[in-house]
Amino acid sequence: MSANRPAAVVVLAAGEGTRMKSATPKVLHEICGRTLVGHVVSAARELDPQHLVVVVGHAREQVTAHLEGVYPGTRTAVQHEQNGTGHAVRMALEELGGTVDGTVVVVCGDTPLLTGETLRALTETHTSDGNAVTVLTAEVPDSTGYGRIVRDTTGAVTAIVEHKDATDEQRAIREINSGVFAFDGKLLTSALGQVRTDNSQGEEYLTDVLGILRAAGHRVGASVGGDHREILGINNRVQLAEARALLNARLLERAMLAGVTIVDPVSTLVDVTVTFGQDALVHPGTQLLGATHVAEGAEVGPNTRLKDTSVGAGARVDNSVADGAVIGAKATVGPFAYLRPGTDLGVKSKAGAYVEMKNAQIGEGTKVPHLSYVGDATIGEYSNIGAASVFVNYDGESKHHTTVGSHCRTGSDNMFVAPVTIGDGAYTAAGSVITKDVPPGALAVARGQQRNIEGWVARKRPGSAAAQAAQSASEEGVDGA
Ligand code: UD1
Ligand code: CA
Repeated sequence: MSANRPAAVVVLAAGEGTRMKSATPKVLHEICGRTLVGHVVSAARELDPQHLVVVVGHAREQVTAHLEGVYPGTRTAVQHEQNGTGHAVRMALEELGGTVDGTVVVVCGDTPLLTGETLRALTETHTSDGNAVTVLTAEVPDSTGYGRIVRDTTGAVTAIVEHKDATDEQRAIREINSGVFAFDGKLLTSALGQVRTDNSQGEEYLTDVLGILRAAGHRVGASVGGDHREILGINNRVQLAEARALLNARLLERAMLAGVTIVDPVSTLVDVTVTFGQDALVHPGTQLLGATHVAEGAEVGPNTRLKDTSVGAGARVDNSVADGAVIGAKATVGPFAYLRPGTDLGVKSKAGAYVEMKNAQIGEGTKVPHLSYVGDATIGEYSNIGAASVFVNYDGESKHHTTVGSHCRTGSDNMFVAPVTIGDGAYTAAGSVITKDVPPGALAVARGQQRNIEGWVARKRPGSAAAQAAQSASEEGVDGA
């Protein structure tokens, strides 16, 4: 492997991508949680090249800042005007001091499905065949827009002809240029110096290098890739969606083969950064995003969206949304829960139906079963929060914290007006607005006393249906007296 370590990989990402019709530069569009250029750089890094250079141009501050964020230290070369793929590679070589000794791999920033494995196979063929250039090609069902691979009667590659410059006969060729090449660095530099711009787009085509090297008597090779879908180049949003579906299917297939049950791969969306434990189970309509992990035997979905969330072993998440949450082993979430950043659910705890949590640490075995908001709170172990409770954390200016101890039983419809502390083993009465600390083991009652005004309906609403009902009830002796 190290013998085939390329001297450089050049990623072309200077184009605007006008066909995307977007304010966002093409290579910054995302599929499966990573930008198009991010996918390509990730595959390129698998080759462990001595140098990796990304050619930037259109919106280069934005593209460079993005690269710095995801792969700090990534080297860039600026192509001020997008004069073609050949010109772009020249800019990269200038950044590298004019030329490079050894193999130079060139990939386009808009082919996100390309794998490191395919790049490695290409460089291996290139080296073992002793080629001046090796192009990765594929037979595609529809070759519209791609450069066509022209071969002579012996089958040797003679040139690549761009779609716009091709004759009808050449357009019928279904073998296309993937845009991925391995070059001998020195020969690449000299051939690029001879590339002209007398074509339909008035650009320096990298693809012309093949014809130039071939005419000079060098070995030109083609490596026909197995799966044409892998080299799909994204030029518009239809292809973006197509690539997303293909990559998603690939990621889910890998998970399934590793022992994860995906009930319906078509309606399950995952990012490249998502990980699973064995026997995790994903129900339909589920999106798993960012650094989400679903541990062994955990069950998520249906209709669930988890972002940067860790689901513990054997936990159950049903019809819920979570962002930046930690869900402990065997905890249960939902249906219809919303867990926001900083939520940390302990082992066997519960965030039940219509429960929202934010910055909340919930201890082992503690349950918040129904219709509640828990914000900026710490709750101990094995406590139960009554239905329809609100942790009143915001006074209109700042957020405050509530602490509830272990083995507490708080009544339904409580307001915990923060900052406030409920001691271990304390109880609170239903309907209480808790504004003062509750000592351990106390019962807090914080609500108005009930007062019954006898005969009020008969006096104030005479003749009404309510008055008649009350009258009948008193005649039947069921007035509670
Ligand atoms: C290119 C190839 C074509 C191939 C196809 C595969 C050329 C001339 N054509 O066509 O043979 O079949 O890719 O997808 O090489 N870029 C720059 N600077 C430029 C121009 C382009 O950095 O001046 C970058 C773009 O950002 C993009 C890549 O090069 O990432 C390819 O450019 P694009 O315009 O998409 O080329 P295609 O027309 O698709
Ligand atoms: Ca393209």
